[in-house]
This record gives sequence, structure tokens and C-alpha cells, in this order.
Amino acid sequence: MEIIVLSDPAAVGRHAARLIADTLARRRDPVLGVATGSSPLGTYAALAVLAREGLDLSRTTAFALDEYVGLDPAHPEAYHSVIDREVTLPLGLDPRKVHVPHGAAADLPAACAEYEAAIEAAGGIDVQLLGIGANGHIGFNEPGSSLGSRTRVKTLAPRTRRDNARFFGGDVEAVPLHCLTQGIGTILRARSVLLVATGESKAAAVAAMAEGPLGAFCPASALQLHERATVVLDEAAASLLADREYYDFARDNAPGGAPKRD
Ligand code: GLP
Repeated sequence: MEIIVLSDPAAVGRHAARLIADTLARRRDPVLGVATGSSPLGTYAALAVLAREGLDLSRTTAFALDEYVGLDPAHPEAYHSVIDREVTLPLGLDPRKVHVPHGAAADLPAACAEYEAAIEAAGGIDVQLLGIGANGHIGFNEPGSSLGSRTRVKTLAPRTRRDNARFFGGDVEAVPLHCLTQGIGTILRARSVLLVATGESKAAAVAAMAEGPLGAFCPASALQLHERATVVLDEAAASLLADREYYDFARDNAPGGAPKRD
């Protein structure tokens, strides 16, 4: 796991966008895994700038990590709408190439199996962008999720519903109880993963992910198993890392040269 600590959230967004752009540029028909939540917004904003400067995303296929169950896809907080608003439109993606799990499907297990098949049919995900929940979840894989899990129906943790109530007018009861989410096993199949986290509220989860034991109690710790996992943090999110000295040293003395920094 490569850990890059930068000064502030804007620098995190710019750095993550450059890493994504570099990965996508190497593929003729790139596949990008996209996440919702506030963490990746700076990355999308920086990617939109790169797109205005000439980054061609017209051939890019995108797969979202998760979706609430039971919300009409047109509901403003359904991840169908959120991805459309925050990703598809600003990045100029072809809406026909943007996929979100069907949380309103009558047959949810079938929708999950179809989603897995669609990822496979697209050739797999080149780079999966991730945020992290304060409880260590990735996608909506709550603590206790199988580290080998695939796209399936999950029950949201009470803490996640409380955290996400801000998107539903502060009403925790308005947050759906269930979701569809790519599994941890699905996420680990991406050819590379890029997790962004900013702010003090993520510091404990980030430390558990990177320095704690590998285990289902911190789903993000599964990224310790990934061959190409990059974590980009601001100072606040990195504040509880014990071995910060090494991460900075490794970054500045990377075998291929230190990454470009803001
Ligand atoms: C959400 C999403 C995750 C996201 C996480 C953190 O509920 N399902 O994909 O990474 O929780 O959200 P935020 O970035 O808003 O803190």
C-alpha cells in the first residue's frame, strides 16, 4: 500500500485526478470505478479541469460501487442521480457507459449477478476510486463483511445511516435500510485501487486500514492484500498514522522518482 500525504483536500483531489488520468490514458477503452460520498468530490472537480484541458474520457466506462435499495433512480440522493450529477455530467462521460447497481430492481440478487457480469464483460476495472467510512467501510461493505464478497444486498450500519442522514435533510429514518454494493472481493479484482480520505473524522479508520490487522472488522484493511493500492490523504486524515515518517520517506525516495506534488 502506497500512502501519500498532502497538505489539504484540494491537493488530494488534484493528485488523485492525475493518477486516474495516467491510468486511463494507458487503455484504449478504460474502465473507471467511481464512488459516491463527499471524499471523491475534489477528485471529480480536478478530473473535470483535466477534461476541459483535453483529457479525453469519451471512451471511458464507469461502474459505481453501490446504490440504496428502494429509492427511485430519479430521487436526488439515489446514487444513480448522484453519479449523474457529480461524475457523468461534469466529466462528459457517455451516460450509456455509466453503470450503477439497480437498487430498485424487483429481483435484487439477479441485479447483483448482472452487475458482476457487466464488470467482467467490460474487461474489469482499471482503477477503482474509493472513499472510506468512519467505521472503515468501503463501498457499503460494513464491518463484518466477507473479505471475499461480491456484489450483493447489505443492511446499512446504524452509524452509516446517521452519517448519511445529512444527505436526507438530517432525517435518519429517510436513509434506506438496505443497499446493493460491490463486494470486497469485487473491489480487490480491480487492477488498481485509489482511496482518498480527508479530515480528522477519517483518521482512526485510515490508521486501522493501513496499520491495523487485516480483518472483516475494518473492511478497508482488505486493501492490504491488493498489489496496487494507493492511499492519498490530507494531513488531518493522516494524523493517527504511527509510521508517517516512513510513508513520507518512501514517497520522496520512490524507485521511479518522487511523485509530482503541488
Ligand atoms: C458512503 C459511501 C462510500 C463512501 C463512504 C464515505 O456511504 N457508500 O462509498 O466512501 O460512505 O462517505 P464520505 O466520503 O461522504 O465521508
